[in-house]
Amino acid sequence: MLEKPAQTKVTIHNIIAKRWSPCAFESGKPIKREELLALLEAARWAPSCYGDQPWRYIVCDKKTNLSAWVKLLSCLADANQVWAKNAPLLILVTHINNFGHNGRINRWAAYDTGASVENLILQAVSMGLMAHSMGGFDITKVGEIFNIPPDFTAMTVIAVGHQAELTVLDSNLKERELATRERLPLNKLFFEGDWKNPIAS
Ligand SMILES: Cc1cc2nc3c(=O)[nH]c(=O)nc-3n(C[C@H](O)[C@H](O)[C@H](O)COP(=O)(O)O)c2cc1C
Repeated sequence: MLEKPAQTKVTIHNIIAKRWSPCAFESGKPIKREELLALLEAARWAPSCYGDQPWRYIVCDKKTNLSAWVKLLSCLADANQVWAKNAPLLILVTHINNFGHNGRINRWAAYDTGASVENLILQAVSMGLMAHSMGGFDITKVGEIFNIPPDFTAMTVIAVGHQAELTVLDSNLKERELATRERLPLNKLFFEGDWKNPIAS
């Protein structure tokens, strides 16, 4: 199976290095209930500002709730549907906009929700699964179809499943799947003590 490990100057945790966002999913291999629960437990235990836990997920498992899965798939951008149709699990990620304890805008809600998603994704990788986040979906449509309350924001859809061979992809997607993963260098992202001092590595 295609692997695209992160290229690093020093060793990082294998699970972090191993994670990437594939498009090739095995359509005939569902996610077991215990696996799903482990993913959700990992997401649940993310840190959050004031311990507010602003994230709310709607799980659409093709095996147990085909109609919800079909509905969520239909909300994705066409370019995402092409490959996400093979993912057995689609998860809609939302967050509440205001703090529970005082009703004020929670400006860390998206930050916390991203942390919970990364927990879920790394848990998935640790169990031999793969996950791919998507911002390309119709936010109005998901709000209507899934009865999302007005004080919540839909953030992403995550496709989860087992990785498949490249043969499930068309030639464009195959090319994308094989492309090198790029990152900015450490010294463009991180600074030592002051914005003017890029980190030496
Ligand atoms: C918030 C968010 C939205 C994304 N939206 C899409 C998307 O709509 N379609 C897609 O194919 N990939 C999407 N991606 C995946 C990114 O393109 C991918 O994470 C990035 O190119 C880095 O590649 P890697 O995850 O393999 O390291 C999204 C990722 C994130 C975190």
